[in-house]
Amino acid sequence: MKGIILAGGSGTRLYPLTLGTSKQLLPVYNKPLIYYPLTTLMLAGIRDILIITTPEDQAAFQRLLKDGSQWGINLSYAVQPEPGGTVQAILIGETFIDHAPVSLILGDNIFYGEGIPSILKDSSRLTSGGLILAYYVQHPERYGVVSFDAEERVIHIEEKPAQPRSNWAMTGLFFYAGDVVEVAKEVRPSPRGELEITDVNKHYMRQGALKLRLLGRGNAWFDTGTHESLLEAANYVAAVERRQGLMIACPEEIAYALGYIDSDHLERLTASYLKNNYGNYLQRLRTPGRR
Ligand code: G1P
Repeated sequence: MKGIILAGGSGTRLYPLTLGTSKQLLPVYNKPLIYYPLTTLMLAGIRDILIITTPEDQAAFQRLLKDGSQWGINLSYAVQPEPGGTVQAILIGETFIDHAPVSLILGDNIFYGEGIPSILKDSSRLTSGGLILAYYVQHPERYGVVSFDAEERVIHIEEKPAQPRSNWAMTGLFFYAGDVVEVAKEVRPSPRGELEITDVNKHYMRQGALKLRLLGRGNAWFDTGTHESLLEAANYVAAVERRQGLMIACPEEIAYALGYIDSDHLERLTASYLKNNYGNYLQRLRTPGRR
């Protein structure tokens, strides 16, 4: 399966933070925001990843993430000239997708929890239709809202409804079979003028081909589109990392754990961090029996 990270958008809700840089380059505690969705795709076993940015921010993402070979993955880049909705990521990625199954993740989504890696691996085996993940939230009206029956079959999805039918928000992580480009081409702009991913999902739902995975309460899902939610996510990451001394969303650690890079390679990466806390952490990863 291939992966796409949508890291475009103007981030107006985060002004003035995003006047000079992209939202997905902002810090979430000790890492740039994009490390979190990127490592989510890595944990799904996806190594071929397209990163879609605004034209003006592309160079900064390339400076940060390079071609991915430092982490044993393959990163390529494309631009979204104007923000126009999540579905644009699929259309821009048409050549990259090339009829293969694909996972799309929004660049401001953070997932964390013990069960998540196995859900990701299972989901990446999808060969037909689509698969969405839903998370119980207090304010579903801010999201795509999913309703389902006793067998967890999706019966209704609605984008940012004034009267939500459930508390289950559609997260910004989607898995699709290779026909998704054709489905995306049929989507027309919504009342807010965007090509909504909800319409792609509704298409699969009508065909009975939309799978649903519920993320239970032992998991954390954040989107980071506002000042408050960005701070909440950072505080969460900081609390967990400082308590355990283990990092969330460290690409070097995940690449090493997955066997994409060896100990010598990790040592070279570590050297570039000199003696800061991040470098010290990478140094510890190479110590046998540290856990
Ligand atoms: C998008 C989707 C929405 C989903 C959300 C998750 O919303 O349209 O259905 O719940 O991502 O982050 P947007 O961020 O474009 O408002």
